[in-house]
Amino acid sequence: MGKSTTAINLGAALAAAGERVLLVDADPQANTTSGLGFRKGDFSHTVYEVLVGDLPLEDAVEPSRVKDLFLVPSSIDLAGAEIEMVPRFAREHQLARSLNGPRARYHTVLIDCPPSLGLITVNALTAADEVLIPIQCEYYALEGLTQLLRNIALIQSNLNPRLKIEGVVLTMYTKRTHLAADVVGQVREHFGEVAYETMIPRTVRLAEAPSYGEPIESFDPGSRGAKAYRDLAAEFRRRHGRA
Ligand SMILES: Nc1ncnc2c1ncn2[C@@H]1O[C@H](COP(=O)(O)OP(=O)(O)OP(=O)(O)O)[C@@H](O)[C@H]1O
Ligand SMILES: [Mg+2]
Repeated sequence: MGKSTTAINLGAALAAAGERVLLVDADPQANTTSGLGFRKGDFSHTVYEVLVGDLPLEDAVEPSRVKDLFLVPSSIDLAGAEIEMVPRFAREHQLARSLNGPRARYHTVLIDCPPSLGLITVNALTAADEVLIPIQCEYYALEGLTQLLRNIALIQSNLNPRLKIEGVVLTMYTKRTHLAADVVGQVREHFGEVAYETMIPRTVRLAEAPSYGEPIESFDPGSRGAKAYRDLAAEFRRRHGRA
């Protein structure tokens, strides 16, 4: 869908715009961690210890190579967390509790979620004020969306009444296909103002950047992808009254 790509590149673009940004990698695949150039051994703690071991979140925060962009890394250990957290008291609120103090030190905290709607995603949605949904310009993306919206509604009524759908951002957009235009039309009709004007194009440079451990902003600042994420960050800041 473009969740990790958006977490990294929106985060970096917000930092470039002068914000202090924390990225929390809440996915055992750790794509945000590796995409920012972190390798095993570059960090001593991960989000796993925060969720399962009661480590204070600030002890897991690492500065990235990008100024003002910080990361709580993830690793494959997190794959076991869904099961290990089950017997815990208030297990859905663990991440929310951990972020309580630290969140005030950042303009924006972005939590990158795993693909499934398990206990880790529930923790992320319980901790968040807002959810930003990237939608790939493909039909099957819309099928998953119904389920996601139903889950968000469940979180709102049971765990986090202040959770808002902040926005929907269309990613991997290609001008050439009718399919993409159809998806864009449907999303704009369904979401109205909630849908971001900025669309993220499908570009090779955006797909390459993570293997160099860099956000697009430093990897190829002149590229279309970099411009798109700068535009997205500007729109995000306007929505939050910060620009
Ligand atoms: N705008 C884009 N242009 C080209 N490739 C992209 C773009 N956005 C994402 N990709 C590529 O598509 C793949 C999936 O993107 P990404 O990892 O951001 O999705 P995700 O939603 O985080 O996936 P998962 O649910 O597995 O965590 C990656 O290989 C990524 O490099
Ligand atoms: Mg991902």
